[in-house]
Amino acid sequence: MKNNSKLKTVVIIFMIIVFLILAGVEIFFRHMDSSPLTIIGGADGPTKIFLGKDKKDLSKEEQENTKQEIKEKEEKWQALISEAKDKGLLILVNKDNPVDENYKPDDLTAVKYYAEDRTQASRYMRKEAAEQFNKLSEAAKQDGYEIVMTTAYRSYGFQKILYDNYVQREGQEAADKFSAKPGYSEHQSGLAVDVTSPSVNYSLSYEYGDTAEGKWLKENAHNFGYIIRYKKGKEDITGYNYEPWHIRYVGETVADEIYEKDITLEEFLEEEQ
Ligand code: DAL
Ligand code: ZN
Repeated sequence: MKNNSKLKTVVIIFMIIVFLILAGVEIFFRHMDSSPLTIIGGADGPTKIFLGKDKKDLSKEEQENTKQEIKEKEEKWQALISEAKDKGLLILVNKDNPVDENYKPDDLTAVKYYAEDRTQASRYMRKEAAEQFNKLSEAAKQDGYEIVMTTAYRSYGFQKILYDNYVQREGQEAADKFSAKPGYSEHQSGLAVDVTSPSVNYSLSYEYGDTAEGKWLKENAHNFGYIIRYKKGKEDITGYNYEPWHIRYVGETVADEIYEKDITLEEFLEEEQ
């Protein structure tokens, strides 16, 4: 009997010790959980360390920070778009939006890299567009590709000669799919340029898009503020056949967006309204 009660006492003491250890461990972890130093975020998100706040406050603060970040991003975006608009870089010239017959940009600047045997009068672009085109051509060269311009700025008069010739040669219906009527060509804005390369013998060819130079252009033009203006599959929107050689300067912010979303200038401007 005496031994039995001794055993009972030992078992009870043992259980009390186990209980105290478990309680201690639990308190320790609870303390860790609400410790002033909390790390949030993981592989997919930014890891931030907040000091002296519990999780509830943190998520509120995070939400406020995110809202603020979105607001700042939106303001920055709007400022960049306004700047591009103010510089006239987002002007829309298409079958529904002509330019004045007498419009001529006042900052026309010679482009450095061009195919020989073309009219000298169209080696000009608006200053920023010309400078960025030169950079594009130089970057292509660094990567081993020659990309040069054939025509850039075209006056109303020059566009008229071109268009009338195409109509005579191919009829108006066909001509309207690849040539703009005078006053409706983006080339008159000084922001568009047709480019070419040795692999298509310095011609303007639909195959250009499949050449190494044409592919380079498609993937890199946006880094210099240019877009492929008349895309394959977007003929109903642009009003023209696919033209892998015709690029249009809109500035880097807009060009990046148009490239990423794979949209046309018309679609971009519609979204921005
Ligand atoms: N080829 C383009 C559409 C133009 O003539 O302006
Ligand atoms: Zn063109």
